[in-house]
Amino acid sequence: MAEPLRIALAGLGTVGTGVIELLETNRSTIERRAGRPLEIVAVNARDRSRDRGVDLSPYAWVDDMQAMAERADVDVVLELVGGSDGPALTLARAALDAGKGFVTANKAMIAHHGLALAEQAALRGVPLKFEAAVAGGIPVVKGLREGAAANRIERIYGILNGTCNYILSEMERTGADFSDMLRGAQEKGYAEADPTFDIEGVDAAHKLAILAAIGFGARVDFDNVSATGIGEVRAADITQAATLGYVIRLVGIASLDESAEEPRLLQRVRPCLVARGHPLAAVTGPTNAVVAEGNFSGRLLFQGAGAGAGPTASAVVADLIDIARGDSGAPFSVAVEELEQFAPADPGNRVGRDYIRFTVTDRPGVLAEITAAMRDAEVSIESLIQRGRDHDGGEVLVAMVTHEGPERCVTKALDLLEGSPSLTAPPLVMPILKE
Ligand SMILES: NC(=O)c1ccc[n+]([C@@H]2O[C@H](COP(=O)([O-])OP(=O)(O)OC[C@H]3O[C@@H](n4cnc5c(N)ncnc54)[C@H](OP(=O)(O)O)[C@@H]3O)[C@@H](O)[C@H]2O)c1
Repeated sequence: MAEPLRIALAGLGTVGTGVIELLETNRSTIERRAGRPLEIVAVNARDRSRDRGVDLSPYAWVDDMQAMAERADVDVVLELVGGSDGPALTLARAALDAGKGFVTANKAMIAHHGLALAEQAALRGVPLKFEAAVAGGIPVVKGLREGAAANRIERIYGILNGTCNYILSEMERTGADFSDMLRGAQEKGYAEADPTFDIEGVDAAHKLAILAAIGFGARVDFDNVSATGIGEVRAADITQAATLGYVIRLVGIASLDESAEEPRLLQRVRPCLVARGHPLAAVTGPTNAVVAEGNFSGRLLFQGAGAGAGPTASAVVADLIDIARGDSGAPFSVAVEELEQFAPADPGNRVGRDYIRFTVTDRPGVLAEITAAMRDAEVSIESLIQRGRDHDGGEVLVAMVTHEGPERCVTKALDLLEGSPSLTAPPLVMPILKE
């Protein structure tokens, strides 16, 4: 039997212990597929005394995580600690510098520092892999880098955050409001105690930046991902969307705007209206799904568990198997020096339809004021629903769907209405996902 691939594992939380369990349970299958054994030789976490429900006795315990990078008996360092900077990043740099392969599930770190780490890996000629960083157990990085490698990708989008998808689909199912469903998600363990990164769309933005880089052969550009979370979506929006034949999903979308001389990259995370017949509308609960549109493959749909010990460990170990087989290849699908630097696209150029919800005072003339602003900004209204006054009599909801047009017109209409005493809250705009 060939020499084992020797692994140092930093982080023994949900994913780290999941990896230990998976390597134990599927040992012989993995060995046959990898062509050699995968062996953890050293482990590290903060608290050595904690019972983690797995047997750590076969592995050397290392007190100083950073020392793992230096060990002569290690081929690959596996980082399952988390955090965009701090010890995870120090370990990544040290491991690559020492000529070790590096595998991580850390989307925040790859979104912020993936490019620099890929440059370092290329310089040292060692593999850098992060399948689990995007949509947990779904093999979408592999799907794009390998399966769809022959295609020009025209658009990538998806449901990239299980917490938000759980909340939105439960709001849809129960008619409850956002804050109640957030509490429910926390009780069920889908949402962190501090859910800010999830509900504000930052976690989805991390994954989108990585997907866009792989799909478009672009330099990772997290700073130019614009993210809006789901905190402003009301139960009433879900009801209106349903009346119109849509569901609401938090969708990360990356596309190239080819209208300028040089193509520009649009990367956005937004709550969107998704037509009931679209595959993403059927994705409920904490599931993730990614759609990639290739110019020869057509629409590809990757769907599965975006988190959890088992699914995430499955993606991590797939990376380790690749390394054991000797497959490395460019982390972002194109050699790092060949990745393109796209300027950010002007979202005003986007041509599409939008849902716009106004909350307004209940007095005559308000609707006329809104429609006049739409007319002056050249926004054409396809349908408009006005919901009667709410129980305290003060507020009325006006929801509309626009005909297809440039997004800059909608922005202009809202600018015209800004500061109007008729509006009781800032309007909410949700793009309608193009099929
Ligand atoms: N959970 C998921 O479903 C999932 C899905 C996809 C990607 N990921 C990513 O996978 C990574 C790990 O996530 P997780 O859910 O497994 O996290 P977790 O359960 O919080 O585990 C983190 C581990 O890192 C250790 N750790 C934290 N700070 C440390 C430090 N300063 N020094 C040494 N050890 C430290 C902790 O040690 P102690 O146990 O001793 O405290 C713990 O074992 C993150 O990057 C996350 O984004 C997670």
